[in-house]
Amino acid sequence: MRVAMIGTGYVGLVSGACFADFGHVVTCIDKDPSKIERLERGEIPIFEPGLDDLVARNVREGRLFFTLEGAQAIKEADAVFIAVGTPTRRGDGHADLSYVYAAAEEIAGLIDGFTVVVTKSTVPVGTGDEVEAIIKKVRPDAQFAVVSNPEFLREGAAIEDFKRPDRVVVGTDDERAQAVMRDLYRPLSLNETPIVFTGRRTSELIKYAANAFLAMKITFINEMADLCEKVGADVQSVAKGIGLDKRIGGKFLNAGPGYGGSCFPKDTIALVKTAQQYGAPTRLIETTVEVNTARKKAMADKVAAAIGTTNLTGKTIGVLGVTFKPNTDDMRDAPSLDILPALQAMGAKVQAFDPEGAKEAAHMLEGVEFKAGAYEAAEGADALVILTEWDQFRALDLDRVKLLMKAPVVVDLRNVYKPAEMVRHGFTYASIGRGR
Ligand code: UGA
Repeated sequence: MRVAMIGTGYVGLVSGACFADFGHVVTCIDKDPSKIERLERGEIPIFEPGLDDLVARNVREGRLFFTLEGAQAIKEADAVFIAVGTPTRRGDGHADLSYVYAAAEEIAGLIDGFTVVVTKSTVPVGTGDEVEAIIKKVRPDAQFAVVSNPEFLREGAAIEDFKRPDRVVVGTDDERAQAVMRDLYRPLSLNETPIVFTGRRTSELIKYAANAFLAMKITFINEMADLCEKVGADVQSVAKGIGLDKRIGGKFLNAGPGYGGSCFPKDTIALVKTAQQYGAPTRLIETTVEVNTARKKAMADKVAAAIGTTNLTGKTIGVLGVTFKPNTDDMRDAPSLDILPALQAMGAKVQAFDPEGAKEAAHMLEGVEFKAGAYEAAEGADALVILTEWDQFRALDLDRVKLLMKAPVVVDLRNVYKPAEMVRHGFTYASIGRGR
C-alpha cells in the first residue's frame, strides 16, 4: 500500500514510521523546510524512545520518505492521512481546524483514482463531513472516502502503543475504504487486535470520550488522594483496591500533580465546548477541567506548607522534572508551567533539572535556573520537589541529597519514594495521598 502522511508532528511521524515498518511505502509531508531537512538527515525533532532507529531503518530500506512537496505522493497514495495539529483556538476553546481544512484543500486538487482520506488528527465531531464537503467542492469528480481513524498512542510509549494497541477505531460506512483500512492494519491481526468499524461521527467522538474518561479517572484518584490525606488513608492502596475490580481497572489511577500534556487539557476543553454547542453539556468533564486547573495551584501551596511558610522570599526550591511526564521533551500544558510560576509568585527562587525537557522549558519558564543534574538542582535548596517521575529520580543517593540541601524537605508529587524510607533518612517528606 502507498501512504501519504500530511504533518510530521508526534502522531504523523510515529504513525508514518510504524506504517513503513509494517511494509507500506510511506511519504511524510510537512510545510516546514527545516523539519524536513532534519528528518532527511536522520535527525528526529522530538524525543521518543526507539523512534530514531525505526525511522533510520525504514528510510534505509526504502519505505519511508520525507518531503516538502507532497503532490506526487498524494496522487499515488491509496490512503492520505491528515495528521496536522488541532490546537485550542484562541478566545473560545474550540479546536482550531484551519490546518485540517488546508490539508483537505491540498488533497482535493491532487486525488487520482479511488483514495481514502483519513483524519488521524484529533478532530471534533463533524469534521470528517466538512473535509468531505471541501474535497467535493474542489473536485466534484473525485473518487474518495473520508475516514476517521483516531490515534490512541501515548508519548514516551508511542511505538509500542501503535504496534500493539488495545484496539483500532475506523469510522466509515464505505466498504472500499474499510477494505483499504483493513489492509493497512493487517499486521495487527497477528496479535488479534480488534478493529472497531463504526460511523465517522461516532469514531470522532470515541477519541474525545476516551481522553476525557482517562482525564476524569486521574482527577478522581487525585481527589481521593486529597481525602486520604485528611482521613489517614493511603491512595496507592485505594487505587489497588478499586483497580483490581475489572470493571474499574488499575491503569491511570496514579495520583499526582494533575494531568498535563498536549492532549488531555486540550481535548477535555474541546469536548466541553462541543457538548455545550449541541446543548448536551458534559458536566463531569467541565468539573474535571476545573478541578485539574485548581490542583496545580494547590501543588504550589503544598510545597509552601512543607516548608512551613507561604512567604518563600529568600527560599530556593529545587525541582526534578518539568515535562508533563517522563520519556518526552514535550512541555505542552505541563503542570510545571503553573506550579513553578506560582512558587516564584510566593517569592521563591526556583532551580530545576530535566533530562530532556530543559531546552524547551527554558523558553517557557522565565527566571527558572536550569541545572546540569538532579544533585545540582538539590544543592542549597530549602525544598526539593519531584514533579516528573523520570527513572533516574527513582534511586537517588538520599544521603548525598540531604547533605547538599540547605534544609532536608522533599515534596514528592509522584509518590516515587516510600514515606518510611524518607523519614529514616531524616527528611521532612510530603507526598500525594499518603495520610498514613
Ligand atoms: C494521552 C492518552 O493516554 C493517549 O491514549 C492518547 O492517544 C494521547 O493522549 C493523545 O490524545 O494523543 P499522553 O498525553 O501522551 O497520552 O500521556 P498520558 O500517559 O496519557 O499522560 C497524560 C497526563 O496524565 C500526564 O501529565 C501524566 O502524568 C498524567 N497521568 C497519567 C497521571 O497523573 N496519572 C496517571 O495514572 C496517568
